[in-house]
Amino acid sequence: MKAEVVVQQAEPMKFERVGNLVHELLAEIYPDGGYKRDVFVETARVLLTGNQGVWSFLATTHDDRDVGVVTINECAAISSGGRFGEISELYVVPDHRSKGVGALLIDASVGFGRERGWHSIEVGAPSVPRWQRTVDFYLGHGFEEVGPRLYRQFSESVE
Ligand SMILES: CC(C)(COP(=O)(O)OP(=O)(O)OC[C@H]1O[C@@H](n2cnc3c(N)ncnc32)[C@H](O)[C@@H]1OP(=O)(O)O)[C@@H](O)C(=O)NCCC(=O)NCCS
Repeated sequence: MKAEVVVQQAEPMKFERVGNLVHELLAEIYPDGGYKRDVFVETARVLLTGNQGVWSFLATTHDDRDVGVVTINECAAISSGGRFGEISELYVVPDHRSKGVGALLIDASVGFGRERGWHSIEVGAPSVPRWQRTVDFYLGHGFEEVGPRLYRQFSESVE
């Protein structure tokens, strides 16, 4: 099945395809979140077409169906030796899971980061125990737990 799916860096103009899959991801993780698809697509447009240090890879079948996505961005820390990467979103559609697509998206992200000279890449996983399989997926791909991730929202809504 792996051979039927191709992972490629998404050209900026594919922002709608990226935004749609990220919307599916959030709707799965937070079913009561009320996320709006058009808001996600517009945000994807701004981030991917605006040269803002945000990139994406799409996993696509031979008949041009998008079945997975990863978005990555560039961060920096003195203690990390400069620039490093963050996986912001990773998603594989349910009917294509456990076929190695997620692994291909991780490989693409790591390869991209190496080319940019990053020393590391980070990711925030959804909370356990509900999403323990996701955490295990990352641990199985060489990620290490470094502690809790905290979050403070600046406004009530992203509209
Ligand atoms: C986590 C995720 C990207 C893995 O993608 P994938 O294509 O299934 O990954 P692979 O086929 O390379 O590896 C499969 C492994 O992923 C892990 N996994 C984590 N969640 C899973 C899920 N919901 N379904 C299937 N496998 C899952 C399992 O360890 C699985 O191994 P197994 O098939 O032996 O049980 C995908 O399951 C997903 O999109 N989950 C929901 C969203 C999510 O958690 N995203 C990441 C956080 S933002």
